[in-house]
Amino acid sequence: MKKDFLCIADSNADEINEILARGAFMKKELLKGNKSMGSLKGKSIATLFYENSTRTKNSFENACKFLGAEVTSISAATSSIQKGETLIDTGITLDAIMTDAIIIRHSMAGSPKILADNVKASVINGGDGMHAHPTQAILDMFTMKEYFGRLEGLEVAIIGDIKHSRVARSNIVGLLMMGANVKVYGPNTLLPIDCEKLGCKVCKDIDEAFKGSDVVMGLRIQLERQQRGLFPSLSEYTKFYGITKDRLTMSNKGVIVMHPGPVNRGVEISHEVFDMEVCVKDEQVTNGIATRMALLEMLLTR
Ligand code: CP
Repeated sequence: MKKDFLCIADSNADEINEILARGAFMKKELLKGNKSMGSLKGKSIATLFYENSTRTKNSFENACKFLGAEVTSISAATSSIQKGETLIDTGITLDAIMTDAIIIRHSMAGSPKILADNVKASVINGGDGMHAHPTQAILDMFTMKEYFGRLEGLEVAIIGDIKHSRVARSNIVGLLMMGANVKVYGPNTLLPIDCEKLGCKVCKDIDEAFKGSDVVMGLRIQLERQQRGLFPSLSEYTKFYGITKDRLTMSNKGVIVMHPGPVNRGVEISHEVFDMEVCVKDEQVTNGIATRMALLEMLLTR
C-alpha cells in the first residue's frame, strides 16, 4: 500500500478487496460492541476539514479512537488557516507536531495531492471539490457487497447530479474496477459531457435507470446550483428524477436504495422510500466507520 489514499484510480482490485475484507472484520467487532481495538495505539491522526461534514469527519474520528489512535480535529474556521497560513505550511506544522496521518477535505480538487507531496504524514482524501471522495466509494462498495455477496455483475444505477458529484465519480471508477455495471441518469445539465468515457452507460429515461437494477443510488441535489438554473424546480426534480416506491417496482428483487448523505428528504428520495428497509443510508454510515478503520490500519501499519 502507498503512503497516501487520494483517489480510487490509484488503487487496484486486490487492494480494494483487502480493505473490504478487513472492513468486514472491523464491522463484526463493532457489532460485538468492541470499540477499543488497539492496533493504532501510539499513532497521532489529524482531521483537517476546510469544508463542512457530518459523516466523513465524525466517522473518521471514531475510527481513529476505536483503533486506539489520538485524534486532533482542525477546523479551518478556528485554526491559523484564518490568519493566512497556506495548506502546505499547515501540513508541515502537522508533521512537526508528530502527526502520522492527515485526513483532509477541501473545496479545491487536487488539494490532498498537493498536501501529500509535501508532508511525511500519510494523507487521506476526505473529499476534494468535484474530483474524488474515495472512502465514500469504499464504504458504498462494502455496503453493496454486504447485501449481495459480490460486486461483479451487479447492476448499479446512479441518479442525479453526476456532474458535480465526487461521490459519483469515485463510485463509477471503483465499481467498474470491481466488475459491476454502472448506469447514470439525471438532468442533461447535470451530466458530464463525456460521461460515457468514464465507462458507464447513460440512460435515456428514468425507466431505463430503474429497470433491472440491484442498486439505485441517489445523489444530493446541491440546492445552491438551482439558482443557476440547472434544473427547473425541486418539485419537478422529484417528479422526473426522484426515487419512488412505484419506480422501484421496475428494479430487481432485493433492490437497495443508497445515498451518500446529506439527503434532501422528499427530493432525491420520496418520504415513503426514505423510511423503507430498502433504503440503507444508515447502514452506509456505520459501514463508513468499519471501512475507514480498515484503511487507517492498513496505511499506518504498512
Ligand atoms: N457523504 C458525505 O461525505 O457526508 P458528509 O458531507 O456529512 O461528510
